[in-house]
Amino acid sequence: MSGRPAASRRTVLRGAAAAPAVGMGLTACSPGAGAVPATPTAPVDLGAESEVAKGGADLNLDHNVVVSRSADGSLKAFSTICTHGGCPVNELEGSTLICPCHGSKFDAATGEVLHRPATVPLSELPVRVENGRVVVGPRT
Ligand code: FES
Repeated sequence: MSGRPAASRRTVLRGAAAAPAVGMGLTACSPGAGAVPATPTAPVDLGAESEVAKGGADLNLDHNVVVSRSADGSLKAFSTICTHGGCPVNELEGSTLICPCHGSKFDAATGEVLHRPATVPLSELPVRVENGRVVVGPRT
């Protein structure tokens, strides 16, 4: 199905490169134990706006954020630090984010929990377009 944006390919490549780090992340899965910030501390350029298709999402493993675009073209962004135990979510299937630690699933379009053990939605981040580029965070 062609519903997945071209950015998904980049996501897969980044996911493969991050695999060893995920294994190490299992030991730091308890809340507050990870060194990964929950949100960007400065604005992050996530690439060309055109890379996020309507109805699509782009998971950025480098900055632990996901950007999604609704059918009306508006953008939303969320921190992909799992609200269950703080693991960085590293998989995006369609519009579903999957945490590698205990299998929580989140909706990339809304941040809502789709599957436990997480019960708290992902943290929404400010997102804007500057000169055709998607810029996310920091949270104010
Ligand atoms: Fe437990 Fe994500 S840290 S499901």
